[in-house]
Amino acid sequence: MKINISKFILSAPNLKNCPAVVSNMPEFAFIGRSNVGKSSLINMLCNHKDLAKTSSKPGKTRLINFFLINDAWYIVDLPGYGYAKVAKAQREKWETETRNYLLRRENLQHIFLLIDSRIPPQAIDIEFMEWLSKNQRPFSILFTKCDKLSSNKIRSNLKAFQAELSQRWTELPLALLTSAETKKGKEEILQLIEEMTSHDFS
Ligand code: GTP
Ligand code: MG
Repeated sequence: MKINISKFILSAPNLKNCPAVVSNMPEFAFIGRSNVGKSSLINMLCNHKDLAKTSSKPGKTRLINFFLINDAWYIVDLPGYGYAKVAKAQREKWETETRNYLLRRENLQHIFLLIDSRIPPQAIDIEFMEWLSKNQRPFSILFTKCDKLSSNKIRSNLKAFQAELSQRWTELPLALLTSAETKKGKEEILQLIEEMTSHDFS
């Protein structure tokens, strides 16, 4: 699949303010720790430098952002979790609204959980995966920033991550290696989205 048209539609502070649900408009949400590269990856998929706002400082995306793709489906850029340098009350509000969106948004087809490929498994990411599983939310993992590591290092980090997950799950989610810099993973992600959209809506 190719993304030909991508348009910013709106930013919503909560589920109530999200665009009206249209039955054949599936949504694909991008979530992960603050600064993991969600907005950058969305721009890479859309061939657009600043469709989604990015920053080297964590905590840039603070609302639920909707991008209409090819006039047929949505990409949703979510606030990151785990950003410590913001007041607790504010952080809890983002988390509550984000989780509410993930639990209740009718059109939400699939969640892409982004994990930094450069670091060992983080408790906060594992906890988030447990929450997704417990609530039966369908998700895949995208390892980000793969351009910053040698392929050997990526392989060993991936192994450590899979070993960690194997302690909790017998079946592991699909995982892809990505880079917003080199566009690694782009075709695979778009292929996956294409399969999911044609499967449910043909
Ligand atoms: P929040 O909105 O704050 O939760 O962050 P985010 O997950 O949307 O991250 P964002 O896309 O804003 O990227 C954070 C920083 O990581 C920026 O400085 C990006 O340039 C950098 N970055 C993102 N993806 C990549 C990548 O694939 N490779 C490299 N080298 N840097 C990346
Ligand atoms: Mg962001």
